[in-house]
Amino acid sequence: MITRRNAMKAGVALTGAVGGAGLLLPALGGEAQARTTTDIDPTTIPKFAQEMTVPQVLRPDRISGTTSYYSFEMQEVQTEIIPGKQTTVRTFDGHWPGPWIKACSGHRVVVTQKNNLPTPTSIHLHGGHVPESSDGTPMDLIQPGGEKTYTYPNSQPNANLWFHDHAHHIESENVFRGLTGIYTLMDLPEKALGLPSGAYDVPISIRDARFDENGQFIYQMNDFRGRNVILANGKAWPYFEVAARKYRFRLYNTANMRFFTLKLSDGSTVQQIGTDGGLLEAPVTTDTISLTSGERADVVIDFSKYPVGTTLQIVNTENVPAGVPPTPVLQFRVTRKAADYSRVPAKLRTLPALAVPTVNRDIVLRVDENIADGMGYIDDKVYDHNRVDTTIKYGDTEVWTVSNVNQRVPHNFHIHLVQFRVLERNGVPVTSGPEAGLKDTVRLMPGEKVKVQATFTGYRGKYVYHCHMFDHASMGMMATMEVV
Ligand code: C2O
Ligand code: CU
Repeated sequence: MITRRNAMKAGVALTGAVGGAGLLLPALGGEAQARTTTDIDPTTIPKFAQEMTVPQVLRPDRISGTTSYYSFEMQEVQTEIIPGKQTTVRTFDGHWPGPWIKACSGHRVVVTQKNNLPTPTSIHLHGGHVPESSDGTPMDLIQPGGEKTYTYPNSQPNANLWFHDHAHHIESENVFRGLTGIYTLMDLPEKALGLPSGAYDVPISIRDARFDENGQFIYQMNDFRGRNVILANGKAWPYFEVAARKYRFRLYNTANMRFFTLKLSDGSTVQQIGTDGGLLEAPVTTDTISLTSGERADVVIDFSKYPVGTTLQIVNTENVPAGVPPTPVLQFRVTRKAADYSRVPAKLRTLPALAVPTVNRDIVLRVDENIADGMGYIDDKVYDHNRVDTTIKYGDTEVWTVSNVNQRVPHNFHIHLVQFRVLERNGVPVTSGPEAGLKDTVRLMPGEKVKVQATFTGYRGKYVYHCHMFDHASMGMMATMEVV
């Protein structure tokens, strides 16, 4: 078994990184950064100097009946993230940013993953309703040189899914080094809505990273202070040229630990049309998009009001103290006019009625605060893949009351297999807004409590639930449920 300490050593050996590890407090504004002499100075990286790349939509290797087949070779390649520097990244087939699989509800996707990386992997389709054998559970490892074929039935409606490594104790480093991809699931009712599509439907993965002076990643476990370079689709602070019309942006937080609260720099509103599990019932007009690690927000931004030549930014206001300017993420440049026949209908979908729950559970999230090299816990237990923590009767609808009992450390909560509904946040019913959609990951700031409801159907077997801050999951904030 790979222990946490070995995984950490491997990380240090690969990067030559020193110092700063083991600090547990979240990066609150105003605190000093734990920079080392080998770190690149982020202020020397030019902003908006590189164009953002759009993930490449992959064609299947072949299609047979209603099944599309893909194959990837996980491999390290060099790529330019910081202008003028080459960074070694872990990829699916060399794609940077990660590839984009466009799937359709009711049409199966089969992906063969060959592992040519120096580390074991296990590939999980986040948000996907899939059998245990294809879920990419933490111990279902693909060893270096090995391969595994995953089958995704796509028996769920439209959704904004993604895939990433989930190998026990090393997922956090593998994801940090790049092992993520986009997977969107489309259905006919969504297609009929006339939302912006084609070149006007762009996924954007937002994350942070830490680099040395040569442009190589510095990975350290639980390093929430050091990762101060923001990437959008794998480029540091890029720009993106848009036409003066509506765009659909599927925003993914693929950061290990960083939370984003995104705004447009001119304070304009956007329409949020979807979340983790696909479209909302109705668009939400908002000037703020909240994304914790692993969450997605599907938004429409209308650039038609801006004259050609306008620039504006997406900025992050999370943990930025009052009076300090928010940190930029990406710049939009309005470079041309374009026809726009897309629409954002007032009604997007009807979510299924909530079933009547028969089981209630409490789930407690915690990490050691103030201890260097601390551990993470769910219900006071560190993850043990040999233990079943929760047994669920097939078909049951359950309500889980999830609490973050930490004083300073934020968490979030992700359940495999299901899309859930958020019933309450801190005792207040959630009846509207983005959290009223289908969710698989939910924010929990220190002291917060959310009630979520899910129906466990479709597949029996063992699946995990965990904090989706990958470093916290690696530190033990993960548990196993068995649907029997
Ligand atoms: Cu996105 Cu268990 O993971
Ligand atoms: Cu956490």
